[in-house]
Amino acid sequence: MPLDLPALGFGTYKLRGTEGSEAVAGAVELGYRLIDSAYNYENEGTVGAGIRAAVERGHASREEIIYTSKLPGRYHERSAALATVEESYYRSGIGPIDLYLIHWPNPKQGHYVEAWKALIEARERGLVKHIGVCNFLPEHLDILEKETGELPEVNQIELHPAFPQVGALEWNTSRGIITEGWSPLGRGAALDSAPVRNAARSHDATPGQVVLAWHRAVGSLAIPKASSRKRQQENLDSLKLDLTADEIESITSLGNPDGRLKGQDPATYEEF
Ligand SMILES: NC(=O)c1ccc[n+]([C@@H]2O[C@H](COP(=O)([O-])OP(=O)(O)OC[C@H]3O[C@@H](n4cnc5c(N)ncnc54)[C@H](OP(=O)(O)O)[C@@H]3O)[C@@H](O)[C@H]2O)c1
Repeated sequence: MPLDLPALGFGTYKLRGTEGSEAVAGAVELGYRLIDSAYNYENEGTVGAGIRAAVERGHASREEIIYTSKLPGRYHERSAALATVEESYYRSGIGPIDLYLIHWPNPKQGHYVEAWKALIEARERGLVKHIGVCNFLPEHLDILEKETGELPEVNQIELHPAFPQVGALEWNTSRGIITEGWSPLGRGAALDSAPVRNAARSHDATPGQVVLAWHRAVGSLAIPKASSRKRQQENLDSLKLDLTADEIESITSLGNPDGRLKGQDPATYEEF
């Protein structure tokens, strides 16, 4: 079955423990269906518990939720990758993982094709349902296709007004790859600029809602993280906001080539 994703997801980096699982359960209660975790966030258990609680409380069925986790760079080699997917599966405790992504390509190590083959194998074994990547540049994606004949369904990349990734978005779309935007609010830094403030004023919306509406307009599936119920609801309400073409353009024009939050260029940056 092709991957069918909602227009907005929910990030969970730094949500841990009971407070974190309640935040996840609350997000599902409000209507979030795409929940983003990773092996390296050390919260797959927390997120799985939150999803189980939401299902037990009748807020959604397990089948409606798309739970995502990610393979760390230190486990790209086949047997380590497969054991890691199994570990993610056991940690979350909610059955097959709906979407599993390679977290970073780590091109200097050069094992991402092997990792991709392992994810294909994990899918064949029923551990995961859909597979994708994060932080892959077109050159890495081309290599995956050449070596395995299969492109990822999702590429999750850093994307926010200071770093709008117009070229990467176009490239992904042209290959049928869904672009998810990580740190979609720039961890808060994206909220304070004249184009965002002006649009917020004219739509009687919040800066967060404007930035998330901008993501939707440019074709980026944003996965904002929010601890409080108030912000979770605020972010969901961005789905009701449509910006004008001028507003979209003026927010996109905030971008600059050095706009990454922490300079993590996937061509050179490595994460293990
Ligand atoms: N694949 C990757 O390499 C990668 C890298 C980074 C992140 N991610 C994923 O992307 C998700 C989102 O990115 P992120 O957590 O780095 O940053 P983000 O979603 O851009 O920003 C989260 C921050 O913004 C605050 N916030 C949320 N909604 C807000 C609103 N409406 N108004 C004002 N502030 C608001 C949150 O505060 P509170 O929580 O206090 O409400 C939190 O401090 C992560 O959680 C993770 O799942 C993936």
